[in-house]
Amino acid sequence: MSIIDKIQKVRLEFQSDLKSLSSKNDEIDQIRIKYLGRKGLVAKLFDQMGSIEKDKRPQMGQELNKLKIEISEQVDGVELLNKGTPKEEDIIDLTLPGDPLPVGSIHPISQLLNEIKAIFIRIGFSLFHSPEIDTEFYNFEALNIPKHHPARDMQDTFYITDEVLLRTHTSDTQIHFMETHDPPVRIIVPGRVYRNEDISVRSYCLFHQIEGLYVDHKVTFSDLKGTLDYFAHELFGNNVKTRFRPSYFPFTEPSAEMDVSCIFCRGNGCSICKNAGWLEILGCGMVDPEVFKAVKYDPEEWTGFAFGLGIERMAMLKYGIQDIRLFYNGDVRFLRQFK
Ligand code: PHE
Repeated sequence: MSIIDKIQKVRLEFQSDLKSLSSKNDEIDQIRIKYLGRKGLVAKLFDQMGSIEKDKRPQMGQELNKLKIEISEQVDGVELLNKGTPKEEDIIDLTLPGDPLPVGSIHPISQLLNEIKAIFIRIGFSLFHSPEIDTEFYNFEALNIPKHHPARDMQDTFYITDEVLLRTHTSDTQIHFMETHDPPVRIIVPGRVYRNEDISVRSYCLFHQIEGLYVDHKVTFSDLKGTLDYFAHELFGNNVKTRFRPSYFPFTEPSAEMDVSCIFCRGNGCSICKNAGWLEILGCGMVDPEVFKAVKYDPEEWTGFAFGLGIERMAMLKYGIQDIRLFYNGDVRFLRQFK
């Protein structure tokens, strides 16, 4: 018997099996196994493919596949009929509206970070990062803050071992960068920092800073002022005034703090600026020659400025937020306001 006749024979046998079928489920199961099972009649026909002439194989293959599809569609059909009408609770109403998928928003800290990064990138700064876990050397020593220096008390440190700590500021990255790159330098470093402070409306155990570092030939304090003035006006608008007050950081000399005129009362005095009319926004100064010595830059040849600002503090000013903890408790009612 040719294979084509065998295919036809199986087809006829299947049709007669189907006709004599009662409506019992297990009977259709039997039929599925008889024809489509691993050792079923269709599989047996496939086994014979090897013995037919090569040039006829593709056509035979097609015929056989056709049979297989025919049988499985009809078996599926019978099974569906056997199931009967679905119960009302099983019917899915496709016209009902779907469950809304909540869309998140970008965290206000990230938004502000992105905005500040963009301002500095526009004037030629590049981004640099270093790890949040660091050593005393980078966080303090190389920044001209030796052991027992009172400035270490300004920053309550989380120690991991005697030497290893969670960095208390992004200034550690100044050292990491200068150690591995020759001047000139023009970088900003966004990152997370940690301080062991009591948690309150004004302080949290972690927060974000952006550090800036600029080193070149003949950099002066007026470069610092020009750069930071530009930054403040880009961020807060051209109407704000800025001023620099002398300050102290061990790694800059001279050092300053920059204020902007209060963006809420325009300098008239209100509760947010505590009637001063001014808001402090960052610390800055000319890189101390001791820092250059620590990273083997020649302080006779290179000068530079550095600055650091706290993002949470800026965000609180910019958005009028009174409690720093709101940034960290993940309350969607808060976060949703920053869409
Ligand atoms: N690291 C200082 C701080 O955390 C800020 C600062 C950075 C000051 C760079 C001067 C220069 O308070």
